[in-house]
Amino acid sequence: MDEVIFRSPKKRGRVAVLLSGRGSNFTAIQGAVRAGRIDADISLVLSNKADAPGLVKARDEGLETLFLDPKLHATREDYDRALVAEIERRRVDLVCLAGYMRIVTPGLCDAYRHRIVNIHPALLPSFPGLHVQQRAIDWGVRFSGCTVHFVAAEVDMGPIILQAAVPVLQDDTEDALAARILVEEHRIYPEAVGLYFQGRLEVRGRRVFILEAGA
Ligand code: GRF
Repeated sequence: MDEVIFRSPKKRGRVAVLLSGRGSNFTAIQGAVRAGRIDADISLVLSNKADAPGLVKARDEGLETLFLDPKLHATREDYDRALVAEIERRRVDLVCLAGYMRIVTPGLCDAYRHRIVNIHPALLPSFPGLHVQQRAIDWGVRFSGCTVHFVAAEVDMGPIILQAAVPVLQDDTEDALAARILVEEHRIYPEAVGLYFQGRLEVRGRRVFILEAGA
């Protein structure tokens, strides 16, 4: 078996959520934090969109929010350097991408290796990228679903933490399939973050092992 290259920390963590849109996955994570199912605090909710509804929700929850304006940074690398400065200032342990519609640069991936996770609405490595629910329907797959994974430099390619499958129906529409997948997203994303701070995620090669509680 490959050697262990990472084990998640068992601690009360500090989380940053990055989002660009409605923020339903943020709400699911926040709900799990409040319910004590995730041993962490959300220290920052950051967006590249000033008017992201998710930012408003976070503000309403009394969380610290930040709009980091892409226009003020000449390159993607500059933007991500500013982003790293913001998350380091708050001593963030884990960055959760939750509908964050920007490609993260290798600089950010390297600085936060095994400390950035993402949710993707397909069963990776099938259907990386965008418009994946429609692409799954068009391809004719019988099952799609969602994937929580560590973020690596290649888009949607990091080690897989959790997945959930849902059926694709004959009369499915993009919206209907997306809604069915979203229910599972809201279940497995908080679960994965919970496991992370229970110290139960171990990475060997590109496989993530889920350790027994108390192991
Ligand atoms: C979700 O489908 C997620 O899988 C994808 O973007 C969408 C974000 O939705 N990465 P929300 O903003 O969390 O509601």
